[in-house]
Parts: sequence; C-alpha cells; structure tokens
Amino acid sequence: MSVLISTPMADSVLETDCYVVIGNPIGHSKSPDIHARFAADTAQNIDYRHLLAPLNGFAEAVQEFIQQGGKGANVTVPFKLEAYALATTLTPRAEAAGAVNTLSFANGQIHGDNTDGIGLVTDIVRNAGFEIAGKRVLLLGAGGAARGVLLPLMQANPAQLVLANRTVTNAQALVQQFSQKFPNEGEIVVSSFTDVASINDQFDLIINATSASLQADVPTVAASIFGPQTLAYDMMYGKQPTVFMQFASAQGAMVRDGLGMLVEQAAEAFFVWRGVRPQTDATFSALRAQL
Ligand code: ATR
Repeated sequence: MSVLISTPMADSVLETDCYVVIGNPIGHSKSPDIHARFAADTAQNIDYRHLLAPLNGFAEAVQEFIQQGGKGANVTVPFKLEAYALATTLTPRAEAAGAVNTLSFANGQIHGDNTDGIGLVTDIVRNAGFEIAGKRVLLLGAGGAARGVLLPLMQANPAQLVLANRTVTNAQALVQQFSQKFPNEGEIVVSSFTDVASINDQFDLIINATSASLQADVPTVAASIFGPQTLAYDMMYGKQPTVFMQFASAQGAMVRDGLGMLVEQAAEAFFVWRGVRPQTDATFSALRAQL
C-alpha cells in the first residue's frame, strides 16, 4: 500500500511504503511500536500497522494487502506455517525453519524469509557479548521455536550442538529433516533431557526453546550442566525472569530472556525490506521499561 501524504512544510507529496504484522490475535503485538522506532532511527518513511486476519482467511488477507500495494508483512501466531506455504520463493533460513515470519511483495512474487534464528544469534553474540563459535551449545525443545533457529545456530559454528527434547523421537525427526536439507552444516547430537549430563558435564550455552515456561515448568535436565560460565537463554520473556532463568540462576549461570531476540528479529526484517540496519539498543530499553 502506498499512502500519499501531503506535508504542510512543502507542496511536495511523500510516498509511504506500507507494512503490517498479521496474526490472530494481533492487538498485543509490539511490532508496530518497534518498527516505528526503527523508522525514526533510520529516517525511513514507512507506515506499519496491525492486521487481524480471520483464522481461516490468512491467504486472502495477504492477497488483499498486496492488491492495496502493501510492500511487506511480518507474520505471527498462528500463521507462520501458512505463510511458508503461501510464499513463492523462500530463503534457506525460511526453508530450514519450515516457517515464515517475514514476507516481501515485489514483481508479483511473495518472498518468504525467517529472521527468528538470526535474531536469536545476534542477541546472544552482539547484545550479550557471548561468542557462540567454539562453544558447547544445548538447545532444549523440538517444536517450531527450535526448528526456527537451527540453521543460524549451526552457522554460528558452535563446537557442538546438542538438541534435547522431552519426546526424543520429535528431536530425532527434526534433526533428520534438517540434516537431509542441509547435509553440510555438521552433526547435531540428539539427546533426552536425562542423558545430556552424560554428553557434557556442563554446557557453555543452554537455550530453552520449549514452551515449558508457559506452564511454569522447567525442562528436566540436571542442574549440574549449568555453571558460572554458562549463559542460559530463554526464548520466552516477561516482566519477571522465567522459571527456567530462575532455575539456571540458582546454579550460578548467567541468564537472559528472549526480549532481545524479539527486537533483533524485527531489525533483520526491517533490513530485509529497507536495506538499512536500525540501532536496537534504545528500542530494547524502551520495550523492557514497558513490560
Ligand atoms: P511450537 O511448535 O509452537 O514451538 P510445539 O510443537 O508444541 O510448539 O513444541 C513445543 C516444544 O516445547 C516441544 O519441544 C515440547 O516437547 P514435546 O516434543 O515433548 O511435546 C516442549 N514442551 C512443551 N511443554 C513442555 C514441558 N512442560 N516440559 C518440557 N518440554 C515441553
């Protein structure tokens, strides 16, 4: 959608590119706020809004937005798989994730991307100052959240990546699919929660990609795998530290929640659309203060 805006300063007319975040529900999404901050930071003239799509009407909502001239969309729950199916081209990271959170519309094509994994890696490496290369990494979970970050995590060159899940067969299926699509990305070790302690006494980075925190549950891994050199990262976030972070803190680990990942996945989407990378520190602090 291009909106013509007359400026009182001059007779000139500015053309504004339009973007939306599509979900159901969607009113709670922080994306319009985040992208408005990025646009101000980079002096980009964009319009970014919420778009509530009916549960059975995602593709129609996207097509209507394209007809209106929309340039791109972020996609959130529950439509990331439908966005993957709707896209006419996919980036490797979207292909690996099996899900799309960023759509771009150009030349009659629907380009699908996924910026969640790079958002996680950027938050850990740049914002937390924690190098992943050469480290022993444990990823907990084998659902959409874990799948979404596997490729960027492997591309960050950890010494070892162990994927552990409550249901081991789900982890095996995920790793098998990933290895078939990306045979050159190296080996991912599959484990049960119980067995991770026998793979390494401690891990350098432990990422919680399960939805256990939503039920105030902690994945049942041994407390001994967390040490003072461990960064324990929960992809969930909230006003208070999650139960996973509290558990890790009690073992002396460093902790971080997923708010930075939210901001960094948005920054990467902004970069995909606009070709400029916004500063994220001030936006992160503002969002933290609003929680
Ligand atoms: P999504 O795809 O939206 O991430 P999902 O497919 O339900 O959601 O996956 C959620 C992940 O959290 C799974 O790895 C799930 O483990 P299972 O494969 O065994 O179901 C994990 N999970 C959910 N609740 C959990 C809990 N209480 N303890 C540990 N893991 C849990």
